[in-house]
Amino acid sequence: MIINRVRKYLLSVLQKSDSSLTDLSHPTSLLAAEQFMKLRQHVESEFRTRFGREPSVVAAAPGRVNLIGEHIDYNNGFVLPMAIERYVIIAADSCSDSSRDYATFFSSSIQESTDIPIGASSGPTCSGWGRYIEGVIAGFVSGGHDVSALDAVIGSNVPNGGGLSSSAALEVATATMLEGITGHQLEAPEKALLCQRAEHEFAGMPCGIMDQFSSVFGMPGELMLLDCISQEIQTVPFREEDVAVLITNSNIKHELTGGEYAERRRQCESALKKLSLSSWRDVTSGDLDSARGRLTDDEFACGRHVVTEIARTLDAAEAFAKGQWASVGELMYSSHESLQKDFRVSCAELDALVRINREIGIEGGVYGSRMTGGGFGGCIVTLLQSDCANEVREKILTQYENETGVAGSSFVSRPALGAHLIKRNGNDN
Ligand code: GLA
Repeated sequence: MIINRVRKYLLSVLQKSDSSLTDLSHPTSLLAAEQFMKLRQHVESEFRTRFGREPSVVAAAPGRVNLIGEHIDYNNGFVLPMAIERYVIIAADSCSDSSRDYATFFSSSIQESTDIPIGASSGPTCSGWGRYIEGVIAGFVSGGHDVSALDAVIGSNVPNGGGLSSSAALEVATATMLEGITGHQLEAPEKALLCQRAEHEFAGMPCGIMDQFSSVFGMPGELMLLDCISQEIQTVPFREEDVAVLITNSNIKHELTGGEYAERRRQCESALKKLSLSSWRDVTSGDLDSARGRLTDDEFACGRHVVTEIARTLDAAEAFAKGQWASVGELMYSSHESLQKDFRVSCAELDALVRINREIGIEGGVYGSRMTGGGFGGCIVTLLQSDCANEVREKILTQYENETGVAGSSFVSRPALGAHLIKRNGNDN
């Protein structure tokens, strides 16, 4: 089975690993595999300490980075994300007290415990991070799957609020853990959609399908070209050792439930309505130009981003498949400019990071760069030559801090494996 192949690979890589784990010119899977194993051990040991027994199930689900195709998943476009080597891991076990009607979750990252009711409610009773879990449990229960009382410990190395889908990783890890506990395996698209519903109905964030699909379907060595109408994924191989994906966190917190995201969604919907078309996929730049007088300036600008970004994403998937890195890079810069000027979801710090990348340029090893995720802070993604990664990272972080006074942080990731059970029925999977 594919998961076993990947685990064997990670173990063989670990056995070969040496002390230079922080050197980015080494295959990042070395570092990622070690971090994954450590996180798993930490979560399991925390479970034993808190609950005095072994967890019977351990589940993992990754965050994601989107290479291109931003704010077009809810506009019927295509997106090109990959799962990243950063995970939420949950260790859990059912609880013998049959009278209990809640699940206890302990977050080892923030050292906080919360009790989550087990039921089919249609809205949150919990606050904070408990809402995501409550939404997934409610989705399971309302789908007719019995969930018994349980205890769980969560650990994560997906940066929070960084636009790398830490919440989708939490939802998908919860759903995967529940599959292990209940023995009921959901169809993969059904699982992603259940998690998206949890985000809509319990966290109040009207997201598209990209984050949950990426966390469920991620595959090592593959980007995912996701068709947001048919929900089909075409994989785009990305195994080139000489080219790397560097993720730089502006460390400006991104808060998407703040209303800006929903407002952009509304502007796209009202523009489409005025164009009298049912899908952005059918809209051409000519259609937009002819409708200009009927659209507000914001609607027109949002529409221009959507139409051009759909085209850029398809072009980028083709350029990736052909190894045309400089072309991918130019498309990434154009995407950023469109998000900055037309869609207006960037911020000064993200713009500074992308500009610094551009200044380093191809001569310095950088092919291209753009903001990634919902925006208003969070991360940028850079495509670059692997052997320049250490030097480029250093330059970016130093100049960013000099210019903004904010310390950034960064890491490299290869496309990673999606959600999976590491342990079920008390045994390693
Ligand atoms: C957030 C949402 C996604 C997507 C991106 C922007 O991450 O959760 O559905 O819309 O923003 O591309």
